Amino acid sequence: MLRCQRSIYSVFLLFTLTNAFDITSLEPIADKNIQTGNRMLYEREINANISQAVAAKEDAADGVIDVNEIPVRYDDAQLWRIYNISEHMQNNMPLAETLENQFGGVIWKENSKFLDISINKDNLKAARSYLAEHNIDKEVVHTNIQELIDAVELEGIKATQSEAGSRTKKQARSGINWKDYHDLETIYDFMREIRSKFPKICRLYSIGKTAEGRDLKVLRISENPREYKKIWIDGGIHAREWISPATVTFIVYQILSKWESQPAYIKQRTWYFMPVVNPDGYVYSRNVNRLWRKNRSPSSSSSCYGVDLNRNFNINWNGRGSSTNPCSDTYRGTTPASELETKAVENFLSRRKHNLSAYLTYHSYGQYIVYPWAYKAVKVKDSAALQRVGKTAAERILSKTGTVYRSDVTHALLGIAGGGSDDWARAACGAKYVYTVELRDKGEYGFQLPPSQIRGTAEEGMIVAETVAQAIAL
Ligand SMILES: *[C@@H]1O[C@H](CO)[C@@H](O)[C@H](O)[C@H]1NC(C)=O
Ligand SMILES: *[C@@H]1O[C@H](CO)[C@@H](O)[C@H](O)[C@H]1NC(C)=O
Ligand SMILES: *[C@@H]1O[C@H](CO)[C@@H](O)[C@H](O)[C@H]1NC(C)=O
Ligand SMILES: [Zn+2]
Repeated sequence: MLRCQRSIYSVFLLFTLTNAFDITSLEPIADKNIQTGNRMLYEREINANISQAVAAKEDAADGVIDVNEIPVRYDDAQLWRIYNISEHMQNNMPLAETLENQFGGVIWKENSKFLDISINKDNLKAARSYLAEHNIDKEVVHTNIQELIDAVELEGIKATQSEAGSRTKKQARSGINWKDYHDLETIYDFMREIRSKFPKICRLYSIGKTAEGRDLKVLRISENPREYKKIWIDGGIHAREWISPATVTFIVYQILSKWESQPAYIKQRTWYFMPVVNPDGYVYSRNVNRLWRKNRSPSSSSSCYGVDLNRNFNINWNGRGSSTNPCSDTYRGTTPASELETKAVENFLSRRKHNLSAYLTYHSYGQYIVYPWAYKAVKVKDSAALQRVGKTAAERILSKTGTVYRSDVTHALLGIAGGGSDDWARAACGAKYVYTVELRDKGEYGFQLPPSQIRGTAEEGMIVAETVAQAIAL
């Protein structure tokens, strides 16, 4: 009886949800994204000639703008790919660190095979000579990173505008879709919207606050939280990896929009979703510095901001692959879980580790599905099972979207790094299926993945989640 009532209720909910989220029937969307995009577009197209310095001066004269809020531009900044780093490293030359410290390089990706690093216009000459002096070859992948950033912005605006026709405010409540990247408010509104549409099975937590006072939000979906195996899914640990929060919200949407018809391996699970582990960083990446990676906590010993949250977890903290320098992009923080975000996740998850079967964390880029350990060159004891499930997910992705993902143990593909959330979830919470998923692409666009690829990439993320959910014995 109860069951029957519930399912009628669910059908009703499903109907409302389907309507609200059916992309094709979505009303015009008013997204802060568009406003920001438009503003930047106008700046670019109408006022292209106003240099950042001039704008900054004007703003400073107004006495309102914080220097930390002046948008960072990457005009004529280049992206380089340098192979065979480990060889250079062996010669006692920490190349990435040198380029970062001496030439203001921004490390995009560093793994066992190559280093992707961007160098600003003003440092190009010096960095080039440095590489030449040391006989190091580089591939120039891009010659103007600002163009990439602007292209994504423009494409996103066009995608939403063509969809929307004339735009007016207050349409689809959260305004979420997977045609463009969204601001934090839209993502949080989406979580609230889901919570209010599925009150019986959803719970929305605020598990803490950030240094800048933003909420850390987690959505739980479960029909039986006491009994069902738990799957944790997070995204946005690294601010600039925008495809990650987009993928996590997509998974929420996919799972819930068809809730009643989901197979048991989806419905009989307790899902935790934290789309944005690093909200301060995400906002900063959207508003100020597109290539920002860390959180935004101030340092007491340096004028540099931010800790790499994925080096801050309490597992072999301060190990290889993390930096003691607050200015570095892989700065590990002052102590294990020194950061509010890390602490919040550690506390929340360690109190819920009972029945925790999976920990999935979405990053970009590289197209990898990797499992522990990252902090040492050893595999977990049951690595055969993790390899099998990772490989199955990769095969399913290949046949569904044609994208090639590789699955292997983390240290082999990405190199050794201590303090990662994945290793922590395995070691401290005993989660069996622990994966870090590095989403698209392989470096063609890097973090500036075109909006037209959001949906396809998010589907790939969904396949990993489904495959893992299926692998967990009921
Ligand atoms: C751009 O600015 C420079 C220097 O302020 C000026 O010489 C030039 O004429 C400007 N170009 C345009 C198209 O306004
Ligand atoms: C890089 O390493 C590959 C083998 O891993 C080797 O074939 C190639 O010659 C190396 N390139 C340079 C520039 O050292
Ligand atoms: C989860 O934990 C509860 C309490 O220990 C247990 O009864 C239940 O069987 C567990 N669920 C699964 C799916 O193993
Ligand atoms: Zn990352």
